[in-house]
Amino acid sequence: MNIQEIILKKRNGGEMTTDEIYFLVNGISNGSIPDYQIAAWAMAVYFRGMTEQETAQLTLAMAYSGEVMDLSAIAGKKVDKHSTGGVGDKATLVVIPLAAAMGVPVAKMSGRGLGHTGGTIDKLESIPGFQAERTYQQFIEQVNSIKAAVISQTGNLVPADKRLYAIRDVTATVDSIPLIASSVMSKKIAAGAEGIVLDVKVGSGAFMKNVGEARQLANTMVQIGRSIGRQVVAVLTDMSQPLGHAVGNALEVREAIDSLRGHGPADLEELSVLLTAQLLLLAGKYNSIEEARQEVRKVLISGAGYEKFCQMITAQGGRLAYDQSNYGLPQSNYQVELKASREGFVAALDAFEVGKTAMLLGAGREKIGDTIDPAVGIQVIKKKGEWVQQGDTLAIIHANNIGLIASAAERLQICYQLSDTTSPQAPLIIDTVY
Ligand code: URA
Repeated sequence: MNIQEIILKKRNGGEMTTDEIYFLVNGISNGSIPDYQIAAWAMAVYFRGMTEQETAQLTLAMAYSGEVMDLSAIAGKKVDKHSTGGVGDKATLVVIPLAAAMGVPVAKMSGRGLGHTGGTIDKLESIPGFQAERTYQQFIEQVNSIKAAVISQTGNLVPADKRLYAIRDVTATVDSIPLIASSVMSKKIAAGAEGIVLDVKVGSGAFMKNVGEARQLANTMVQIGRSIGRQVVAVLTDMSQPLGHAVGNALEVREAIDSLRGHGPADLEELSVLLTAQLLLLAGKYNSIEEARQEVRKVLISGAGYEKFCQMITAQGGRLAYDQSNYGLPQSNYQVELKASREGFVAALDAFEVGKTAMLLGAGREKIGDTIDPAVGIQVIKKKGEWVQQGDTLAIIHANNIGLIASAAERLQICYQLSDTTSPQAPLIIDTVY
């Protein structure tokens, strides 16, 4: 077997055999296949796609390309939540403590952000002292004692995806449905999840730009789950504008804490409640989504989710000043308000451009290994559908480099499209795929 023949087969639209898939994945993990051949294969998949059978086999081959977590020492059904990536998406920080407060153990491994999308670990690491790297023993003990832990993916988990994703990121092959589906699902399988709730983002800030593509991605992941005996539910949610108001690591942690204290933005709360309710259903706690949602709301109002969040942060070395309005999180040196140049309804607030602008301020990585600045980012004060007067504050730029503020303001002015008339808004929750 050789890699040229595999690339040729895929380029011509053929279906890879299981042996060929394992040969490729082994070569990606052990370094015997060079970057340029992996890139050529990824581009062939981008144009030719993969069959259901190929996608499931690729997922399994990647999942077992390295270490696989054994979570059997944790009692109860292990459930996990994953977002396909968005702008301002801090829902994991709200969902995990809520689920844990309701008795569902969540042993979560998370990634770092790349490009315009953020990563949960980067957000948590903006908390002074927070330790994302824990030993296996510490991880299990924490989940057994307080029911929640979020740690960074260990180096040995899904090495094939790590290398393949880095190559896809620089060869315009990220937004391929079989490649995203196998990347996401292989990580969830290797991390030990028995039940998985997927938040499939749709819109300019997401990899899937329209509902049709997102539904296809959701169906592919649900199907992979079914074929390997894991329960998967996928919720399609809007990412045409950022979730909540905060985009940037410390800003997002602050907004997530506000939400857990009952005064977060409505969209973040609605999404977090729904995703938590779906986790509870998978864990077998309730029989209907409506009942589960009602119970999650009660727990949110009671403050039990907030208490659980504090316990989890403390257990992982984090130090937050809960009596301060910014909880002792890092703050940028400059905060500059962007004003509306005219009156009108906010007709569009391009999530991709907001995410890119935050990244250019230092909140995200252009390439793997870049360092990020936890304090910088953007607060989008006005969201789609809102009326603004000329001179109203549309957004606040949080920067540490004064030289970047003017270009960030220019980009943000373009993100905001103001119109004289209102237009119907896309719903936040678009659909659920079982
Ligand atoms: N998130 C992932 O984990 N993998 C992808 O390929 C895209 C988004």
